[in-house]
Amino acid sequence: PKFWVVVPAAGIGTRMGADKPKQYLSLLGQTVLEHTLQRLLSLAGIEGLVVAIHPFDDLWPALPLAQDPRIESVDGGHERCDSVLNGLRQLAPRAHKLDWVLVHDAARPCVRAETIHTLCEALREHLVGGILGVPVSDTLKRLDEHYGIQATLDRRALWYAQTPQMFRYGLLRQALEEAAANKRAVTDEASALEALGYCPRMVEGSRDNIKITRPEDLALAAMILSRQQG
Ligand code: C5P
Repeated sequence: PKFWVVVPAAGIGTRMGADKPKQYLSLLGQTVLEHTLQRLLSLAGIEGLVVAIHPFDDLWPALPLAQDPRIESVDGGHERCDSVLNGLRQLAPRAHKLDWVLVHDAARPCVRAETIHTLCEALREHLVGGILGVPVSDTLKRLDEHYGIQATLDRRALWYAQTPQMFRYGLLRQALEEAAANKRAVTDEASALEALGYCPRMVEGSRDNIKITRPEDLALAAMILSRQQG
């Protein structure tokens, strides 16, 4: 099977409170999105990379990477899953149903090639696919609507979901098409497959693969990237 990459980068990043979407914030002299795409382009054996960009985004065309022949862009959609689905549709004539698709958030610039190799190795014979994640480290509470603590969850069974999430093209396309048709919001690819009764695998990744969500995450990402390079 071949390997394809889809990068959803069409969010507007409201939680960041910045003047531009978080994928365009500056991190060690480059945008977050450039860091992320360079990491993905450095992987060996990738057949193609599609990045989903907001239809009104005027920052993307100005990046040198927008001219890179290894990258194609598609319009993003209303939700993250719509952006990913647009990327999958774009691959339709070329991708075989058993090919692998790695979906990786534009907002995760610190992912290491080594961690992605771990994911690919772990899922090599898998029929469906799986995701990177790490075990939850804090104690988790379930609240009622008045902030009253109702229960403490058993954290041994709880993991944070990261990306890349890697699935067979045919199943992932089917799962996201069905989620879109039923207007079911899915916050990651795995949940779309879970809804169809599949059991994606969790593969232990690395805590430094953070997602930039809030302003303080940018400084943390800068520290992680400098440490990785140094
Ligand atoms: O908002 P959140 O952090 O969950 O977004 C994860 C990724 O999905 C980001 O890289 C963002 O740009 C992307 N996204 C998208 N299309 C949307 C919403 C988010 O491609 N409609």
